[in-house]
Amino acid sequence: MEGYGKEILLSRDKIQKRVRELALDISRDYQGKEPILIGILNGVIFFFTDLIRNMTIPVKLDFIRAASYGSGTASSGVIRFSKDVEIDIQGQDVIVVEDIVDTGLTLSKIKESLEKKGPASVKICVLIDKRERRETEITIDYYGFHVEEGFIVGYGLDFNEQYRHLPDIFVLKEKESPT
Ligand code: PRP
Repeated sequence: MEGYGKEILLSRDKIQKRVRELALDISRDYQGKEPILIGILNGVIFFFTDLIRNMTIPVKLDFIRAASYGSGTASSGVIRFSKDVEIDIQGQDVIVVEDIVDTGLTLSKIKESLEKKGPASVKICVLIDKRERRETEITIDYYGFHVEEGFIVGYGLDFNEQYRHLPDIFVLKEKESPT
């Protein structure tokens, strides 16, 4: 991406270690239960599969597709749902799994919409809890890392659909223009 460079923020080893810990925490908390994990596409794909593979309890899974960002690095605040959950979640324990929470608008809309379907519980698990632009109060029950600022790419996270495939996580930095 011309005009941007990237600096490593979280190595693949650090990510994998933390994802294993999260999977074990969730498995312990839901011992004897079979929660439904709902991944929010597209950014969540790597985190979701790594998380599930490390769980020690049975789970069910489904996906929602919701997009809040247009192209670029700023949140538009507009959420579009183009795929809703298909499993019946009534009376079930649900864990929403997301790659990143930023303004919090996407997750609060999703939680609100899931709660209308009558689940026994809804908890939220995010890999990256980024707080600088939070606009709504939302409880994050499980998080991998706190990041204060910067635009994050890699391990599923994109900038204009680029960088998703990278196994590590980077911060995009605008290159200084030559004077
Ligand atoms: C990202 C991320 C969350 C949302 C978080 O998704 O995966 O869904 O933005 O932002 P918020 O807390 O400000 O609402 P994006 O819309 O970029 O779609 P993607 O998962 O396909 O990359």
